[in-house]
Amino acid sequence: MYNAFFGFTQNPFNMSPDPSFLYRSRQHEEALANLIYGVQSRKGFVMLAGEVGTGKTTMLECLRDFLNSQQIAFASLFNSRLTVEQFFEMMAYDLDLRCDRRSKTEVLLSLNNLLLDHAAAGRTTVLIVDEAHNLEWDVLEEIRLLGNLENRRGKLLQIILAGQPELDRKMDAPEFSQLKQRIALRCGLRGFNLQESIAYVHSRMARAGLKEQAVFSPELLGEIHLRAQGIPRLINAICDNLLLTAFAVESRTATRAMLDEVTSDMRLEYPGQPAFNGEPGYSGGGMRQTPIPSTID
Ligand SMILES: Nc1ncnc2c1ncn2[C@@H]1O[C@H](COP(=O)(O)OP(=O)(O)OP(=O)(O)O)[C@@H](O)[C@H]1O
Ligand SMILES: [Mg+2]
Repeated sequence: MYNAFFGFTQNPFNMSPDPSFLYRSRQHEEALANLIYGVQSRKGFVMLAGEVGTGKTTMLECLRDFLNSQQIAFASLFNSRLTVEQFFEMMAYDLDLRCDRRSKTEVLLSLNNLLLDHAAAGRTTVLIVDEAHNLEWDVLEEIRLLGNLENRRGKLLQIILAGQPELDRKMDAPEFSQLKQRIALRCGLRGFNLQESIAYVHSRMARAGLKEQAVFSPELLGEIHLRAQGIPRLINAICDNLLLTAFAVESRTATRAMLDEVTSDMRLEYPGQPAFNGEPGYSGGGMRQTPIPSTID
């Protein structure tokens, strides 16, 4: 809607986990390097845990791009509220197993053959499970058993489990101790720090065609970071709404008053938030100033 007005060639703050917009923060680089290393060195289980909206699914999309580029076969499950039967059926579908996909025994036999064939050809196979914190115990147990398949060169199936921090906590329960022991690599994502948030916004806007953005002042970016608490999805939502608000009044810059309106409409809670007085756009008069670093990576 506002793209032409600001000079964007595409929407800079799209909510989809699109690798072409990837901002390579250190933690995202590290997470992706861990996922790729885990697969390449046939480590078996790799876990990626992180708060809501910090980029887990985006990392998995980047991993899928890598796997496609290397012609490594993979199955990816994005709906983790599955029964054991649905789990095997979906995996068989993704890996194109030619068998009765509704029979767990047939899927297991067929999968075993596929894994051995791939291993004999020097290739590996990957299972990616997003939202793994939602998995039922019985499905996780099946996944653990699949992780046991190995030959002398390493695990036959590399399993990536991504989920919210409760995944980490779930693993602490006694019934998951066997699985927990098998996790060979762990990586985590958290909200950005101030410098990263600023660089993140600049990077997305540059990717969308605005190399030198002047819509958000450094002070406003500091306040956006504070209110979004560095969470990329919230930064996207705030910036998108701010651009829309500025566009509506034909302003090429976003202001603090617009930000107050946007975050109050979003019912966003953040540290140092002024008490709500019932009026939209009310800033409370005592908004915290966030220090802005003089250099940005
Ligand atoms: N490093 C990054 N570079 C570019 N965009 C990012 C990055 N990290 C997160 N995002 C963006 O933030 C939003 C949320 O990311 P994503 O969906 O990957 O988070 P998530 O951790 O999977 O969230 P959830 O816990 O809800 O599943 C997306 O719009 C995504 O494009
Ligand atoms: Mg996700």
